[in-house]
Amino acid sequence: MRNMYLLGLALSLASHSVLAQNPPAPLPPKDVFVADLLKQMTVDEKIGQLRLISIGPEMPRELIRKEIAAGRIGGTFNSITRAENRPMQDAAQRSRLKIPMFFAYDVIHGHRTIFPISLALASSWDMDAIALSGRVAAKEASADGIDLTFAPMVDIARDPRWGRTSEGFGEDTYLVSRIAKVMVHAYQGVSPALPSNIMASVKHFALYGAVEGGRDYNIVDMSPVRMFQDYLPPYRAAIDAGAGGVMVALNSINGIPATANLWLMQDLLRKDWGFKGVAVSDHGAIIELIRHGVAKDGREAAKLAIKAGIDMSMNDKVYGEELPGLLKSGEVPQSDLDNAVREVLGAKYDMGLFADPYLRIGKTQDDPADTNAESRLHRSEAREVARKSLVLLKNQSETLPLKKQARIALVGPLAKAPIDIMGSWAANGQPAQSVTVFDGMRNALGQQGTLIYARGANITDDQKIVDYLNFLNFDNPEVTNDPRLAREMIDEAVKAAQQADVVVAVVGESRGMSHESSSRTSLDIPASQRALITALKATGKPLVLVLMNGRPLSIDLQQQQADAVLETWFSGTEGGNAIADVLFGDYNPSGKLPITFPRSVGQIPTYYSHLTIGRPFTPGKPGNYTSQYFDEANTPLYPFGYGLSYTDFSLSDVSLSAKTLKPGASLTASVTLKNTGKRDGETVVQLYLHDVAASMSRPLKELKNFQKIMLKAGEQKIVQFTLDENDLKFYNAQLKYAAEPGEFEVLIGLDSQNVQQNSFQLL
Ligand code: NOJ
Repeated sequence: MRNMYLLGLALSLASHSVLAQNPPAPLPPKDVFVADLLKQMTVDEKIGQLRLISIGPEMPRELIRKEIAAGRIGGTFNSITRAENRPMQDAAQRSRLKIPMFFAYDVIHGHRTIFPISLALASSWDMDAIALSGRVAAKEASADGIDLTFAPMVDIARDPRWGRTSEGFGEDTYLVSRIAKVMVHAYQGVSPALPSNIMASVKHFALYGAVEGGRDYNIVDMSPVRMFQDYLPPYRAAIDAGAGGVMVALNSINGIPATANLWLMQDLLRKDWGFKGVAVSDHGAIIELIRHGVAKDGREAAKLAIKAGIDMSMNDKVYGEELPGLLKSGEVPQSDLDNAVREVLGAKYDMGLFADPYLRIGKTQDDPADTNAESRLHRSEAREVARKSLVLLKNQSETLPLKKQARIALVGPLAKAPIDIMGSWAANGQPAQSVTVFDGMRNALGQQGTLIYARGANITDDQKIVDYLNFLNFDNPEVTNDPRLAREMIDEAVKAAQQADVVVAVVGESRGMSHESSSRTSLDIPASQRALITALKATGKPLVLVLMNGRPLSIDLQQQQADAVLETWFSGTEGGNAIADVLFGDYNPSGKLPITFPRSVGQIPTYYSHLTIGRPFTPGKPGNYTSQYFDEANTPLYPFGYGLSYTDFSLSDVSLSAKTLKPGASLTASVTLKNTGKRDGETVVQLYLHDVAASMSRPLKELKNFQKIMLKAGEQKIVQFTLDENDLKFYNAQLKYAAEPGEFEVLIGLDSQNVQQNSFQLL
């Protein structure tokens, strides 16, 4: 059977036109095919399949091809064009068994056309928009010969000090789980074996977002109930949606590193959840088991990882160096190796690579003449999605939208920032193709109005931070400071403001500040920019802050100084046009925060779904021994789910179709949503539940459903949600997932704080 397949493959390699006329016989079913191939492999070839390596200085191209042809590499990441990948696939086809390579990449929020960062995508609360971003990414990445993405990243993030907050979809279990499913379907389509789809490898399994203190790579220590209730569901949702891969987290969980965690990788992932795909370590994670203090040397590290079920080792040599000896001594049974190889081959089968190793690489003559060609981008899709991801946080006296006839001072270090606007993990996005805020406003104004630009400040004047950020990107230092004195730059900006009707200040973080290994102890806008904002405020001109950042920032003072605040996150290739659409009112903002904004770093954690406590803070009654910080307001600055529009909406009381719910039955909760303003607009109606008395303390509120609704000015609509017992279930102290009879409050609002309320009994 295998020989027939190889014959077909050889023919297809000899001539693609022959392949087109005589497609090879369909492959046998996956398990038969993989078992047959496994039988033919030597131990070295098997170990070779477990090696996933990055193209880099220590692995020059010539050496890689040699290694591949010798059957010593299973897949690579970080090569991003068909022309780069083809010679590697050719080398694989010269290897004894011609097992195809796969090519992976971090396609997190777009590939060539960069979409808003994940946190911004979540802000859209628009599953179609999010799906579109994933589809376009899959299309563009597959057209560049990429077979697998290390995404979606679904780590729940509740501590914004963590730089990777930007890469995930926020703090809420339900919202992130919905997005996890959407993203897997978007990347993989009906099957990851089709040429314009790619395989999804969900990460970082598990709980990486809960690193202690928000410090990257730190430990995670968490109760089982919290794990199951809050942090694990998004990974599960991705796996249930069919994600072909899982990337294992770098952190330990209650003392056991994920990479060596038998409970996590075997009992939970494989046995309980039935995951049948490939498990990939994170970068260098196996050898790091030594530094975690659970392995005394590489040999023990390799043994722990393979036994845990880490199928592929990313960028470390330890499997190659240690597995032969471990197998020989019998410390690692052959079956452990075979299990790992089976998953790698199975994933390649699922990616369609055994049927055609050149599925996504195509023929040389079809390669784009210019890989960065404009025609390869999907600008209108990116602009559409980016507009939906912007969140209006404040709009006093209708400062926004701006008039196109106005004289506008555009200031701030991020107004002309083609690299930063793409956000971190910008795959193959080209800064030269980014539309900055300056470009976008210019485009929108055309011949009208006046735009007076001044930089106003550097991102930060702290040289140590600049050096750190540039060290992160040492190939191409990204943060370049204007050599002028801070005072000179501010004076120039103030002069611009004085000549203008309104000031737009684009401020926040450089993209590297919200990235892997970019944890912060402060959530402040850097001092150089705070000084700029204060100086602009002093001019008395209406001040609009356009925020660019990858995490919630503590902007209490700045939002008081500003008349309007628009959160734009890092909005991607078309970000500038999308921002201009909102600033000038060509699009009415509809985004809602997927993460709480604290007033200060000291308030963390501020997630909205906090468990009930015995002495909750009672506003207006200070000093009465309730849970509070006495030196600051106890509410967040902006709650989860918050975001304004240029129109106004009202919500009626909540009506329920019944006051009791029997197990197995359902009831309907309805509200009337009315657009009471003068413009058409969209908002998100959010349904939360609260289990009033249960066997354990339950969250004050938990998001259970939402609908994004468009209404014309003056229009109203009844919005209905169906609830059943499944919505009421939770993991109890024995980790049993069940609903408990009793009272449930239904809370419906346009954010998590201001809600209408009703209640029913579960019988
Ligand atoms: C390390 C990161 O933690 C992970 O998310 C990423 O996929 C790999 N590097 C590969 O770039």
